[in-house]
Amino acid sequence: MIIKDKVALITGASRGIGLSTARLLSQKGATLALVARSREKLEELANELPGSIAICADLSNPEEARTAVRHAVEHFGRLDILVNNAGQGYDAPVEKIDLTKYQHIINLNLISPLVAMQEAIPIMRKAGGGSIVNVSSGTALTYFPFNGPYSSVKRALVGLSLTARVELERDNISVSVVYPYMTATNFEDSTLKNDVPPEEGHPPYPPDDPAHVANMIINAIETGRAEVFAHDWMKNWPNMMKLDRNA
Ligand SMILES: NC(=O)c1ccc[n+]([C@@H]2O[C@H](COP(=O)([O-])OP(=O)(O)OC[C@H]3O[C@@H](n4cnc5c(N)ncnc54)[C@H](OP(=O)(O)O)[C@@H]3O)[C@@H](O)[C@H]2O)c1
Repeated sequence: MIIKDKVALITGASRGIGLSTARLLSQKGATLALVARSREKLEELANELPGSIAICADLSNPEEARTAVRHAVEHFGRLDILVNNAGQGYDAPVEKIDLTKYQHIINLNLISPLVAMQEAIPIMRKAGGGSIVNVSSGTALTYFPFNGPYSSVKRALVGLSLTARVELERDNISVSVVYPYMTATNFEDSTLKNDVPPEEGHPPYPPDDPAHVANMIINAIETGRAEVFAHDWMKNWPNMMKLDRNA
């Protein structure tokens, strides 16, 4: 899809990957609905990016995702691009997963993106097409100890996204998944945790810049590719972890 003159809604636009992506989409000529909880940051950004609007929503409540998309469509009269980027981590051993915390990140990382898609799809179909990009995680491709709650939800998001992709091909709506590697944002600090031992060892590579992931999201929109990986080696991550599927 050509981004120029399109209307895009991006969640988690107040900082990190979402902020970087919002700026890049605007530079490429899109008009934006910027969604997150931090009203002031969103309003500042909306003032910076021509034609854009700020929509405050707590996406751990999926009904707020529904209202946010409806608000954007009422304002702009259309919606061509949906980027489900808002997210939060939760680390705990499987044995100790707290169901309230798990439900919170399921709502934020999975159910709200689903609801936003359900609101956007009929609008895009009627307009003759659209682009949906869902931000998953490299952790959906592999198995780290204590990462079960977060990675399971990001895996589920991949399942929904790639199924929707097949269902919506005939409507000219492309659904893509983006897999960031560790990225230098506030993400780690806002990750919920319980019963996680002090960290050992170091990640295999230094973290990426949020602009790298923003470029991946732009690439997904422009090419309509099913999956975009932060690094090619991530495609082989399960093998690097010596996970033998035949054993
Ligand atoms: N950073 C990484 O290492 C990494 C790696 C793989 C995947 N990812 C994924 O990349 C995406 C962006 O993460 P990031 O690294 O940019 O993290 P971040 O800096 O913590 O930003 C998260 C964004 O999500 C929004 N958000 C969080 N909770 C929300 C809620 N309840 N309702 C509405 N908005 C909410 C935040 O805005 P407010 O606080 O203003 O609401 C913020 O704009 C996430 O889906 C994350 O899972 C990140």
